[in-house]
Amino acid sequence: MPALKTLLATGLVGVASAALNPSCAPGGNFDLSKWSLQLPIGSTGSPTTISASQLSGCGGYQDPGHKYFFTESGDGALVMKVPGAPSNTGCVTTPNSKHCRTELRESNPSSWDPNASNNKLTVTLAVEQPDNSGYGTVVGQIHIADNVSTKPVCELYYNTNGDLTMGVEQTRSGGNEVMTKVGNVPVGQQFTYTISYSSNVLSVSINGGAAKTLSTYSLGAPSSYFKVGNYNQGSSASDVHFFSINVSH
Ligand SMILES: *[C@@H]1O[C@H](CO)[C@@H](O)[C@H](O)[C@H]1NC(C)=O
Ligand SMILES: *[C@@H]1O[C@H](CO)[C@@H](O)[C@H](O)[C@H]1NC(C)=O
Repeated sequence: MPALKTLLATGLVGVASAALNPSCAPGGNFDLSKWSLQLPIGSTGSPTTISASQLSGCGGYQDPGHKYFFTESGDGALVMKVPGAPSNTGCVTTPNSKHCRTELRESNPSSWDPNASNNKLTVTLAVEQPDNSGYGTVVGQIHIADNVSTKPVCELYYNTNGDLTMGVEQTRSGGNEVMTKVGNVPVGQQFTYTISYSSNVLSVSINGGAAKTLSTYSLGAPSSYFKVGNYNQGSSASDVHFFSINVSH
């Protein structure tokens, strides 16, 4: 049945992720219209931020030296790199953090209600180089809305052993995350994570496996937003490559 074979072949091509164009800026390959970018450069306490409109399209923003945020010339991945810590690299942090980041922040909506039935972030990535801290680089987060707290709801860490650990804050004042190992993926290997905070239930799943539900303790479902990128927790450089980023509400 040649017709069916053709259909199947076409279908399979459709299932494979759309090819990333290495000659476009990240905004030509990824829908960045609902994100803004925080960079590890700028002035102390005031890192450079790039808006969704500056990011969008094939001619959108990438840093001229290809040091922080750019398209990988071979496979078209969106690369986010951080050089290390402020003390040894002079990189710049936000006012409420000691660590540097190259990270996308959800900007439309700028926050949402975790009691709603669907808030989900699904990302395909490979961590080429995690930082040297114990739990490693944060590759995805849910953050509490800025008018409620400066703390996250949860952070997904990836370390030099390939361990994926979800840290969940217990209160809105933060600083006391409960750490749960949620997977292991060898350094440099591509994988997918999904973080959901829907109907006031927080869960994470790795490579399409069963969703692991995590307690949110006394957080009380605060307004929140997603972040995705490379939030360095150590003193050595970190390098994360992204192949797809999808958010749904
Ligand atoms: C925070 O801002 C959001 C969006 O503007 C608003 O809906 C919410 O009521 C605010 N929350 C507080 C605690 O002010
Ligand atoms: C979600 O529901 C809980 C329980 O009713 C409530 O305390 C909380 O304020 C709600 N969150 C938002 C963002 O409305």
